[in-house]
Amino acid sequence: MNANIPLRQPSAATSPDVGGSNSALNVRDQFPAIAGWHYLDSAATAQKPQAVIDAIANAYSRDYATVHRGVYERSTSMTDSFEAARGAASALIGGQPNELIFTRGATEAINLVARSLPKNGRTRILLSALEHHSNIVPWQLAGYAVDAVPLTADGHIDLDAAEAMITEEHRVVAFAHVSNVLGSVLDAKRAADIAHAKGALLLLDGCQAVPRLPVDVAALGCDFYAYSAHKLYGPTGIGCLWGRAELLDALPPFLGGGAMIDRVTFEKTTYLDPPARFEAGTPHIVGAVGLHAAVDWVQKLSLDAIHAHECALVAECRAALSAIPGVTLFGPEDSAGIVSFNVDGVHAHDTATILDDGHVAVRAGHHCAQPLMDLLGVPATARASFAAHSDSSDIDALVKGVHQVKRIFG
Ligand SMILES: Cc1ncc(COP(=O)(O)O)c(C=O)c1O
Repeated sequence: MNANIPLRQPSAATSPDVGGSNSALNVRDQFPAIAGWHYLDSAATAQKPQAVIDAIANAYSRDYATVHRGVYERSTSMTDSFEAARGAASALIGGQPNELIFTRGATEAINLVARSLPKNGRTRILLSALEHHSNIVPWQLAGYAVDAVPLTADGHIDLDAAEAMITEEHRVVAFAHVSNVLGSVLDAKRAADIAHAKGALLLLDGCQAVPRLPVDVAALGCDFYAYSAHKLYGPTGIGCLWGRAELLDALPPFLGGGAMIDRVTFEKTTYLDPPARFEAGTPHIVGAVGLHAAVDWVQKLSLDAIHAHECALVAECRAALSAIPGVTLFGPEDSAGIVSFNVDGVHAHDTATILDDGHVAVRAGHHCAQPLMDLLGVPATARASFAAHSDSSDIDALVKGVHQVKRIFG
């Protein structure tokens, strides 16, 4: 029980039936790390429910062994758990087990595609002005020339502009499914149509979408989808790259080593089929088990319910902050779970420091999106981001803290 937080049942607007018999209050109680704290930094990394913590503890204690190599029983059963995790992580976004590669995170997943995908004579990439550095720098390192699609006035990727900008020189269109700064949700289906009309592929950076929305890669029509476990209530150090099976089949390896080879000689090495071809070395075994527990946890609540819950909190938060004179909000009204703001004349770091005095944790900075900060004309924003455990008490504490910021800065 989080005794130090003035918990109350959220208002009707913020009280979805998250998990049926699990009220929002019960969801909150499942997170040991948030007791006494208003954690509004889930877009950076999500706190972990007890079910995930227990799964990780069991995997390291009771069940631990290597995977794919051992012939002894513990190893075969850990291999089964590891592969079951792959199936669950892929099914969560509508994919098949053989279409999901475990990586260290979304960053590595995007690097994998940027480095491995043959350019086929196309040397340009179409990104957007709101991308995270993880969806900019890998493409630059891989030698692509970048074209950045502007945003609409309310902070969505401007798909009319994308349609006008794309050419047959573009190999990939790579967009955030949900912006980590603005919370804006991409019309991914339309983005896929725009990419495919010119023979380009669509990669979606799903880091902020997977914890907040139901995702179905087949319905979206994308070619690659990247996400990180730690933003989905799972462990750090593991993430996922989903790719259409025929595309993965055609990709050469990214990293070399054990576990990805078919036959090695000094003259020539042959490789396994995907996904093993892209998983050199001993994988993050326990991370996969923890990710599986996280997938089960969100599915038990349902991503529809989590999404509705976070949308209601965003509406409540935006209404409360915009009622305070001198607060600027960024991003659209229908943001998914994320509210970026600044107090006029106050650096976001100062805002976050004063909020911390009231046990309110928000992120302040450029959010790994410096081109977006340039576009917004600010060095930084403060960002409140919600999760399944968030409730109105978090917003009350945030608003109280913002009033304190205003008092201190006059
Ligand atoms: C939209 C987006 N893309 C990519 C990343 C990078 O994720 P990771 O650091 O887990 O690889 C993040 C993390 O903040 C993000 O929010």
